[in-house]
Amino acid sequence: MSVNLSGRSFLKLLDFTPEEIEYLLDLSAELKRKKHAGEPHRYLEGKNIVLLFEKTSTRTRCSFEVGGHDLGMNVTYLDPGSSQMGKKESIEDTARVLGRMFDGIEYRGFAQERVETLAKYAGVPVWNGLTTEFHPTQMIADILTMREEFGRDLHGRKLTFMGDARNNVANSLMVVCAKLGIDFCACGPKENMPEEGLVATCEKIAAETGAHLTFTPDVAEGAKDASVIYTDIWVSMGEPDELWGKRIELMRPYQVNEKMFEVAAPDAIFMHCLPSFHDRKTTIGEKIFEKYGLPELEVTNDVFEGPRSRVFDEAENRMHTIKAVMYATLKDPE
Ligand code: CP
Ligand code: NVA
Repeated sequence: MSVNLSGRSFLKLLDFTPEEIEYLLDLSAELKRKKHAGEPHRYLEGKNIVLLFEKTSTRTRCSFEVGGHDLGMNVTYLDPGSSQMGKKESIEDTARVLGRMFDGIEYRGFAQERVETLAKYAGVPVWNGLTTEFHPTQMIADILTMREEFGRDLHGRKLTFMGDARNNVANSLMVVCAKLGIDFCACGPKENMPEEGLVATCEKIAAETGAHLTFTPDVAEGAKDASVIYTDIWVSMGEPDELWGKRIELMRPYQVNEKMFEVAAPDAIFMHCLPSFHDRKTTIGEKIFEKYGLPELEVTNDVFEGPRSRVFDEAENRMHTIKAVMYATLKDPE
């Protein structure tokens, strides 16, 4: 049966079959080809979408804006300072109002429950642009980047996430790897391993797709034979700044460095969702350096800037893949 995602929301990858995820990946590749060839693809001319951001963003916001414009849509951006959401109006009421005006709604914010509620009441597709628990649009970009590197068949490849393996990106990587039969390793301190319930769900999926899920505090074991070494910041948006001291202490052994690649697969690449603290060129990076003396955090600057790094391909792919998610869910059913 052919895949049809028209009218669906995109809230978390657990809601999608492997075939549906593969479909989004193929569509992303095709839309990327069109963009690079300069072929117009204004398939959603005249539609209107709204982007709700309760947290800051560069890539996700710009991907929805540029992707939306390339598809011929009008895009409205709302942040907490310029809308009533939360303070004067519930998420349920906001959803029902926006659903009357817009054809699709993007949400970035806090609990996953909020984006699920939006989708329940909006009556139009809702896309998750990052919550505390998940970051599903990031995953389509990441797997597209892996496909571009290693080919379409990723079975048997190992992706290792180093560091805060309990955050939204790590959770989502575990889900997408389980769904697509890619081996996933969470390598980090025991305190920051993915939550047990989610692990159990992913183990069940993995048993069907052939993915192997492993969890280890041992860096050499984690890096061994990995095709991808992936990391993310050690304190995520919404977490208190006071956590930095404890996290630095916990995560320091998991800083991605050149040595890890000595035991990884020979063709291994480095990936990161970005933004990254790989140098002191940010205000937070500089403050952390002053307080803790570390000039680079979750990844060394050598790796970030080195030949294995694919971080800017990944960032570009956010746009092509978010465009695919919007097109697939907003187009008329075939
Ligand atoms: N990777 C990512 O979601 O980046 P932004 O926070 O800039 O959107
Ligand atoms: N884990 C990070 C991802 C940013 C794209 C955060 O939530 O801040």
